[in-house]
Amino acid sequence: MGDPIQDEVRKHQAESIQRELFGTRLGFVLAAVGSAVGLGNMWRFPYRASESGGAAFVLLYVALTLVVGIPLMLCEFSIGRRSRLSPVGAFKKEGGKAWSLVGFLGVLTGFLILSYYAVIAGWVVRYAIEGLLTGFAADPGAHFEMVSTGWVPVVYHLMFMAITTVIVMVGVEKGIERASLILMPVLFFIVLGLAVWAFTLPGSADGYAFYLTPSFEELLDPTTFAEAAGQAFFSLSLGMGAMLTFASYLSRHENLNREAATVAFSDFGVAFTAGLVVFPVIAALGLQSQVSSSTVGALFIALPGAFVEMGGLGRVVGVLFFFALTVGALTSALSLLEVVTASMIDEFRIRRRPAAIGAGIVIALVGLLPATNLDALGVMDRITEWFLAVGALLIAIFVGWRMKDPAQEMLDGASGFFAKVVPAVLFFVRFVMPPVIAYVVYYSTTGMIDTIRQTF
Ligand code: PHE
Repeated sequence: MGDPIQDEVRKHQAESIQRELFGTRLGFVLAAVGSAVGLGNMWRFPYRASESGGAAFVLLYVALTLVVGIPLMLCEFSIGRRSRLSPVGAFKKEGGKAWSLVGFLGVLTGFLILSYYAVIAGWVVRYAIEGLLTGFAADPGAHFEMVSTGWVPVVYHLMFMAITTVIVMVGVEKGIERASLILMPVLFFIVLGLAVWAFTLPGSADGYAFYLTPSFEELLDPTTFAEAAGQAFFSLSLGMGAMLTFASYLSRHENLNREAATVAFSDFGVAFTAGLVVFPVIAALGLQSQVSSSTVGALFIALPGAFVEMGGLGRVVGVLFFFALTVGALTSALSLLEVVTASMIDEFRIRRRPAAIGAGIVIALVGLLPATNLDALGVMDRITEWFLAVGALLIAIFVGWRMKDPAQEMLDGASGFFAKVVPAVLFFVRFVMPPVIAYVVYYSTTGMIDTIRQTF
């Protein structure tokens, strides 16, 4: 990989059957898991859970990941592998011109998500560097306030965007994905170790209660439902064509159903374990008030708090954690920029380099707003969550009702159990998913409007 000329050739073969980038199953799974696992699991999940209903949110998020997330991922995989194109072209080719708007919506969504995603990733980089050079601050709440305001976050944001852009520009994502083969398990095991450690802390019980015992009333709250669905889409990189784009490089022999399940379970495992650290630590170290004054910072307040509490070892573990999380964020950011870049290449027939640089610069500039204004960041996160839900709805309708013979696409390469479930999955995609996701869209519209009103 990494040879730009080769890359060009591949891109211009976009419409031909030879478009195949992933030689192995591992390569594809790594890219898809790399896209899914990132700040969505470690930063957004605890932040959203603490903001909207705690355990009820968590339970609904788990259920929706399994019941709606996996089939939706399979839908994206099917469109991508069938069309062998990036989102805009894929919807046009399989559904006609009007449907290409779904692809455009996806590109716009990826564009907007990356503009604030890079800001948060910048905070992560800063924690890694500061942890290494000076250790973690004793007062995590005040420190987070410092990290997320002023002009320094702008520098880290631009730095992160520059790295992301260069990687997509040169087309060496593969190398990064290989690195994540080592670093994602490292991240997971650190988080798992921290979860065990958190369990031993006196006073952690309240944290578990908040995280794991849902109240019945909240479970029935449609807003909590909509937000949990939004979190599932975001965390699984669904609703904007990222998974679709990866699958466009895939061969007919891959078992799409099995891969969808693999990606979803890995992603969910990381998020759930992160919650097993963040909430008990917040309770045990008495960080509740600091977190509630800035829920966006739940991760950035709880974890450094834990690292300080652990003493000398904490610093080592902490630096490793933030470094690994940087790579996790990077593989997700790559997939966001890849959707925008691949669509520009496929649609406007421009070359990879100018496409990536152009997109990267504009996204970096838009990101100056969330980098300097946390309220704007929160609002952008809301708006894009709504976009993802709308995208998810349209994707389900597309596969259920517009695409030709989706069952065949889902069956190619599948065997055993994974082949047997296809008719049931398709029935579900047609009749259950559209109304359920429409419900999500409806309630996340009101949620989004409320947030915008409260903010401004
Ligand atoms: N799933 C990524 C994360 O959890 C974010 C993402 C969303 C990436 C949408 C691509 C598309 O960090």
